[in-house]
Amino acid sequence: MEKNREEEIIRLRPDPYEVNPLILSRWSPRALLPKPIPENDLLAILEAAHWAPSCFNEQPWRFIIARRDEDLARARACLAEVNRGWANHAPVLIIVLSAPKFSLDGSPNRWHDFDAGTAWGYLALEAHRRGLVAHGMGGFSQKKVQETYDVPEDWGIPAMVALGYRGPMEQLPLNLQEREHPTQRKALNEIWSEGKFGF
Ligand SMILES: Cc1cc2nc3c(=O)[nH]c(=O)nc-3n(C[C@H](O)[C@H](O)[C@H](O)COP(=O)(O)O)c2cc1C
Repeated sequence: MEKNREEEIIRLRPDPYEVNPLILSRWSPRALLPKPIPENDLLAILEAAHWAPSCFNEQPWRFIIARRDEDLARARACLAEVNRGWANHAPVLIIVLSAPKFSLDGSPNRWHDFDAGTAWGYLALEAHRRGLVAHGMGGFSQKKVQETYDVPEDWGIPAMVALGYRGPMEQLPLNLQEREHPTQRKALNEIWSEGKFGF
């Protein structure tokens, strides 16, 4: 990503412990350009996702990629109205799936969604490193994804992802323009406690 922009974002996010700047400067813009994504970058972000750790190295994550017009139309139709407005500009939509059973013996893998989440995190960071936005979306119809892609009912469909280059925020409706900035986080001491359930 562009150096100046990265530094500007980092200034907005307090960083007392000097976290990796790639982590700190990633955020989720909605203004996206329809500009195509080079094959190599798309494969690289999937490659990054698939190096995520997983329980028994099961690698339960799966990704349906939509980038051809007819595939994009089908994927867009699964999005909630609130996301369709902006995510329709994304040149690539990704449906994240997770397989619920261990391939070795078919027993339930109770960690599959946790592992798919890790893979999404890796994907998002590699996308960001390459100057791309990967914006996760929970606002979509799981039922529609199941029906459209014949996804078995027991599979997880944790998220969809809009992938693209950042565009000018003026292309967004005013209510989304107001939200087009990096978010903050809870205070660190709200998310951990020492030796007891302290929340
Ligand atoms: C699983 C998941 C679901 C999300 N769903 C939506 C969504 O439906 N629509 C949307 O605009 N943003 C969505 N987001 C983006 C979050 O709102 C965003 O990641 C969060 O506010 C933190 O901001 P940041 O990513 O800019 O740091 C989602 C993110 C994740 C990881």
